[in-house]
Amino acid sequence: MDVKTVGIVGAGQMGNGIAHVFALAGYEVRLNDISADALDRALDTIGHNLDRQVSREKITETEKRDALGRIAITTALTDLGACDLIIEAATEREAVKTAIFEELQPHLTPTTILTSNTSSISITRLASRTDRPEKFMGFHFMNPVPVMQLVELIRGIATDEATYRSLLKVVETLGKTAASAEDFPAFIVNRILMPMINEAVYTLYEGVGSVRSIDESMRLGANHPMGPLELADFIGLDTCLAIMNVLHEGLADTKYRPCPLLTKYVEAGWLGRKTHRGFYDYRGETPVPTR
Ligand code: CAA
Repeated sequence: MDVKTVGIVGAGQMGNGIAHVFALAGYEVRLNDISADALDRALDTIGHNLDRQVSREKITETEKRDALGRIAITTALTDLGACDLIIEAATEREAVKTAIFEELQPHLTPTTILTSNTSSISITRLASRTDRPEKFMGFHFMNPVPVMQLVELIRGIATDEATYRSLLKVVETLGKTAASAEDFPAFIVNRILMPMINEAVYTLYEGVGSVRSIDESMRLGANHPMGPLELADFIGLDTCLAIMNVLHEGLADTKYRPCPLLTKYVEAGWLGRKTHRGFYDYRGETPVPTR
């Protein structure tokens, strides 16, 4: 089916990035959040990130203005009903996601495709709670969405070929690259990335290296753009822990056990950049390691 209008649920870090790339690619975007403040902040962030692209001559001032003009914000979830494609990018909690799809369902057109940007929850299980498991898929963007080239496409057990093909086409129009992943815990990127981040936290926990030496080792020794602890702060330590728990429970293998130090940071509410403290303290001019 031809997708023209896209409804995005959740205006946080991922939701605003997704709205940004869809609007820039010419789609009509309806961005929803329960908080009006979050929607205002999202529009500010999108404006700021589009400005960066203008200043680096990636896009023109007119393209920026047109993209912003294609984004409508709303606190009413039901306003998204008429969209061709829904992308749920709300909190990574299954009960929240299920409730969103349940509330949306009576307002959808029969052809609307439902997707979730979940980084680890079972697509088959989320799909089974809707009236259209054959039109349901995992649509997993990477952070920062405007910069990262990859999108993971995850088919549930019931997803039909037409839905998969529609999304492949959508990814192409965004100028991004799709990787197909089977519906198993954490899919591909997080299945590989999170155990590496968790191992970096164990390396710190066991005193093998300091925050700085671990990050520098991976930046300069493995050419990663960010060290693993810096990246964990960027993703959010609560998200990292949640994904490790999904891997640990879903695959029942002790090699995925979350490092106790990661749990400790989350218990402290030191969740990384978003709370201004994690493996680094971001409250000053430059980030300072917290251990
Ligand atoms: N919006 C638009 N553009 C942005 C941006 C944003 N939010 N953030 C950065 N940019 C652009 C900059 O304008 C710059 O553009 P040019 O290349 O045209 O100059 C480019 O990105 C690089 O930015 P900076 O020079 O400011 O900074 P940098 O060189 O340190 O790169 C980074 C920043 C792109 C974030 C880089 O550090 C990086 O790639 N880090 C790793 C990110 C990563 O691994 N993400 C995946 C996380 S896992 C995930 O998302 C899955 C999950 O479910 C948890």
